[in-house]
Amino acid sequence: MSIEEIFRDTLEAREVLSKAIHVTPLDFSATYSKMFKAKIFLKLENLQKTGSFKVRGAYYKIWSISKRERKGVVAASAGNHAQGVAFAATSQGIPSIIVMPETAPISKIEATRNYGAEVVLHGRVYDDALKKAMEIAEEKGYVFIHPFDDPKVIAGQGTILHEALEQLGEPPDTIITPIGGGGLASGLIVVARHLWGNKTRIIGVEPSYAPKFTESLRKGHPVEVPAHPGIMDGLVVKVPGELTFRIISKYIDDIVTVDDREVSEAIYMLLERNKTLAEGAGAAPLAALLTGRVKVGDGEKVLLIISGGNIDPTRLVRVVNYELGKGRRIVRLEGLIPDEPGSLNRVLGIIALARLNIIDIRHDRISPVLEPGWAKIEVYAEAPSEESVGNVLEKLNGEGFPFKLLRY
Ligand SMILES: Cc1ncc(COP(=O)(O)O)c(C=O)c1O
Repeated sequence: MSIEEIFRDTLEAREVLSKAIHVTPLDFSATYSKMFKAKIFLKLENLQKTGSFKVRGAYYKIWSISKRERKGVVAASAGNHAQGVAFAATSQGIPSIIVMPETAPISKIEATRNYGAEVVLHGRVYDDALKKAMEIAEEKGYVFIHPFDDPKVIAGQGTILHEALEQLGEPPDTIITPIGGGGLASGLIVVARHLWGNKTRIIGVEPSYAPKFTESLRKGHPVEVPAHPGIMDGLVVKVPGELTFRIISKYIDDIVTVDDREVSEAIYMLLERNKTLAEGAGAAPLAALLTGRVKVGDGEKVLLIISGGNIDPTRLVRVVNYELGKGRRIVRLEGLIPDEPGSLNRVLGIIALARLNIIDIRHDRISPVLEPGWAKIEVYAEAPSEESVGNVLEKLNGEGFPFKLLRY
C-alpha cells in the first residue's frame, strides 16, 4: 500500500473516530518552552479513551473489516493494544479475544476484561501469546488485529496529526514520537510527508534496551535485537514491522535512544510541572529533549507525542521515590550521637528547625561495631529544599554530631 493510499485512509479514519473516541488536548508548555527557547506542545494521548493512542488504530482497523469478517477479532498483547482492541470491538458490537502472557499484571487483565474482551492467558512471554492468538484466529475464523504492521492501524494512528494540526493552526517544525513497532511513527510520517513534504522534522525515540529501529536502519533491513523489559514497556519490540520499516526507513529524520533513568525523570517532570501522568513510553519524547539528544532551535515549534498514561501504581511510586531521592527531597542521614539521655532530642530539634519532616528513624545503641559511648542514628526525612539538607548537616556537625548524607 502506498503512502498516498494510507493518507486517504487517515482522512476516513478521522471521520470514523470523531464519533467514537476523544479529541485529546494539545497543551502548550510554558516550562519547557522557556527551558529550550522553543514552543513546546504536548499532545496528550494519555487522556485518550483506554489511556493511550492505541485505540485509534484498533478502532479504525476493526471498523474497516468486511461484514463477512465481523464474527470476531483476536489480538495478542499485555499492554495498551489489548485495551484498545477490547474497547474498539465491544463498542462496535464485535466479540474479542485477547491473548495475554500468564505473567501479565492483574490490573491489565482486569482492565481488558472490563472493556468486554475474553482474556486468554497463555505462555510466559509475548511470543507465546502471539502464537496462541494466531491459532485462535485460524480456529474460530476471527480477524487478527496486528498492533502496528497494518496499513489501517497506521492510518488510525495518523489521525493524531490531523487533530494536532487543527489545534496548532500551522505545521510543527519538529515532531518527537516514541517508537515501538513503528505504527504510531508511520502514521505521523504519512500525514506529515503527504501534507508538507520534508518541512517537518520527525524524530523517533526508542529504548536503549530495545533499539530495533536504530539497528535496522544501520543494517538497511529489519533485524532482531536483544531486548529486555523496562519502564518503556510499550516500546519493547524486538524487530520492526515490514511495512513500518519501509515507511520509517525512507522518511524519518533521526532516531535516538533513551534509558529508564532518563525516562523516569521525564515522567516525574510531567507529573510535577504539567500535572500530566504519562507512562514510560509516553514520556520518552520529553526524555529525548531533556537529555539533549534532540536539539531544537530558537523559536522552533515542537510537538511531543505523549502517547499513553497507563503506568502501574507500584511502578509510579518507585519512579516518584527515586526522583525525590535524586533531587534531595527525600534524604537519608546517618550519624553518631553521644550515648546519653537527651542527645537524640537535640538532634531532632536541629532537624525540625531546618523543617525536615521525618519519615522513619532508627536508633542503635547495641550494635557490637559501635564504640562504647556512642549511638548510631539513621534518619529518613522529607526536605523542603536541597539547601535545607546542607544547612542541617552543617548545623549537626557544628554541634558535635558527626552526620553525613547517605545515598538514598
Ligand atoms: C504508550 C505507547 N506509546 C508508544 C507505543 C509505540 O507504538 P508503535 O508500536 O506503534 O510504535 C506504544 C505501543 O504499544 C504504547 O503503548
